[in-house]
Formats: sequence, C-alpha cells, structure tokens
Amino acid sequence: MRGMVGHFLRLPEGRAFLVQVPGTSQSALDDAQVAELLNWMVAAVSRSEVPPDFVPYTGEEVTRWRAHRLNDAAATRMAIVERLRSMGYVVD
Ligand code: HEM
Repeated sequence: MRGMVGHFLRLPEGRAFLVQVPGTSQSALDDAQVAELLNWMVAAVSRSEVPPDFVPYTGEEVTRWRAHRLNDAAATRMAIVERLRSMGYVVD
C-alpha cells in the first residue's frame, strides 16, 4: 500500500473500498476504530498521495460502507484502478 493507497481517496468508490476490503470490514475492530486506523494508515504509508481535500473517515461513514459487502473485491479494485489511471494516477 506504501506510496499508492492514498490515491483511492480520490474516488468515493475508492474511499469505500478501503473500508469494504475483507481484511478491514471483517476485522474485530468497531467502526470508530476502523475509521481511526484508516486515517492513520493512509497518512503513515501514503501521505504524499492523500488528496489535499481529504476529509477523515468517521465511525458513521464506516458503518455505512461496512454494511455493504463487496461481491468481488478484485474486480472492484480493478475498476477503481482503471478509473484512477484515466485520471492520471497510477496504482499497480
Ligand atoms: C483491520 C485490519 C486490516 C486493514 C485495515 C487492511 C487493509 C487493507 C486494504 C486497504 C487493502 C487493499 C489494498 C489495495 O487494494 O491496494 C487490503 C488488502 C489485502 N489484505 Fe488487508 N487489511 C487488514 C487486515 C488483513 C488481514 C488480517 C489479512 C490476512 C489475514 C489481510 C490480507 C489482505 C490481502 C490478502 C489483501 C489483498 C487482497 C484483497 O484485496 O482482498 N488484511 N487490506
């Protein structure tokens, strides 16, 4: 995730993906803890890619996204990566 995961925050669906990816959504953390962890994570590993208008996650937002499971995490990720690429942001 280092040096790239912050780009996901440029799209609403990318922002949701970081919550909905199985490791996050199925963790034992509660929603407020997930918000805190993701806010820390994006700054810790990808500060330069976090968009300047980034609004930190809140527990309420995590609750909303977490209620909807991803049917296909890989396909969802690929669609987000393609969209970012078309905007000029390269994510492997
Ligand atoms: C709260 C804990 C966790 C957080 C916040 C987290 C976060 C993430 C995020 C944001 C991604 C997507 C990165 C990308 O697509 O570039 C990811 C992917 C992944 N994580 Fe985690 N993760 C957590 C726990 C775990 C655990 C416990 C495991 C393994 C037992 C795991 C295994 C994976 C794997 C294999 C992927 C890549 C495949 C996929 O997208 O499903 N994660 N994780």
